[in-house]
Amino acid sequence: MRIGVLTGGGDCPGLNAVIRAVVRKAINDHGDTVVGFMDAWDGVLEKRTMELTVAALAGMLPRGGTILGTRRGSPFDYPDGPQRVKENLRELAVDALIVIGGNGSLWVASKLHNEVGLNVVVVPKTIDNDIEGTDVCFGFNTAVQIATDAIDRLHTTAESHDRVMVVEVMGRDTGWIATHAGIAGGATAVLIPERPFDIDHIADAVKRKHARGRYASIVVVAEGAVPKEGTMPQPTYELDPFGRPRLGGISVEVARALEERTGYETRVVQIGHVQRGGTPNAFDRVLCTRLGIEAVSTLHDGVTNMMVAVRNDDMVRVPLSEVVGKTRYVDLSLYDNVATVFFG
Ligand code: F6P
Repeated sequence: MRIGVLTGGGDCPGLNAVIRAVVRKAINDHGDTVVGFMDAWDGVLEKRTMELTVAALAGMLPRGGTILGTRRGSPFDYPDGPQRVKENLRELAVDALIVIGGNGSLWVASKLHNEVGLNVVVVPKTIDNDIEGTDVCFGFNTAVQIATDAIDRLHTTAESHDRVMVVEVMGRDTGWIATHAGIAGGATAVLIPERPFDIDHIADAVKRKHARGRYASIVVVAEGAVPKEGTMPQPTYELDPFGRPRLGGISVEVARALEERTGYETRVVQIGHVQRGGTPNAFDRVLCTRLGIEAVSTLHDGVTNMMVAVRNDDMVRVPLSEVVGKTRYVDLSLYDNVATVFFG
């Protein structure tokens, strides 16, 4: 079999570890060849490829980013895009594609399967952890650790200066990183998209903390967090070239509002893309390795149009139709029954 691989959407720690596992399993166990497409779907449309051998992946297990490059955008941005994908894969003798990507890639892969018969398996990826059908996405665990390490450091400087630190983490539609890093980092409050916040309640939590003689507070804010209607102006964002709001900055509004309401000196820290950069942790390396191997096994079982996933620590195959267009939100019992216990 000749297998194509591409990475799509925002990058994430562990992409290279998945590619390495695909290559090892495909070549060593099945005698396949593997070709990588550069810059996501652009590489398929423009036939820009890289031969992926075992030697080419040497040393790539711990390396962040993706050796293939990644882009947003899809073949459906061009009228002849889907047909070009089909023809180019035929010309390059590629039998099936492994797409490592997030919710956008799932949609593209499923549509290409339905419209031009693409043989495809998707490996779910996003630090946001918001893909339906899997217990966890690779990269999330690493991102939570990075955010938690940052919060640990912010505690000491916050305590020294008697300040409130508002820490913004990624999480466009869901507050997975914020909830986990907030619990792990001992946050005084955690604001997530799933639970629109009342800034007065957050200010009260910060004041309660101070009233007990503890000075510093850490308030963790997911970038997609929104205030309750009528409590604060709703944030507005520019759109990126793909029509998605370019998030970032809600922490500035939250900090300003908290300072006004409490009188405590407040600072803002946006962790930003640091959360996506660098080496995957051990948990993610193992998960990536298992997912890459499962993707190859799925193709060799003659199964296509699937996402490989982890459930109850087992590898499973989930039909793309079951997950496309869905969002996996934070388990609100974790937020309501655990995170909030420590608010204030
Ligand atoms: O990978 C998902 C994500 O991390 C979102 O949380 C964030 O809004 C987005 O990527 C930002 O990505 P970029 O700056 O690459 O557009």
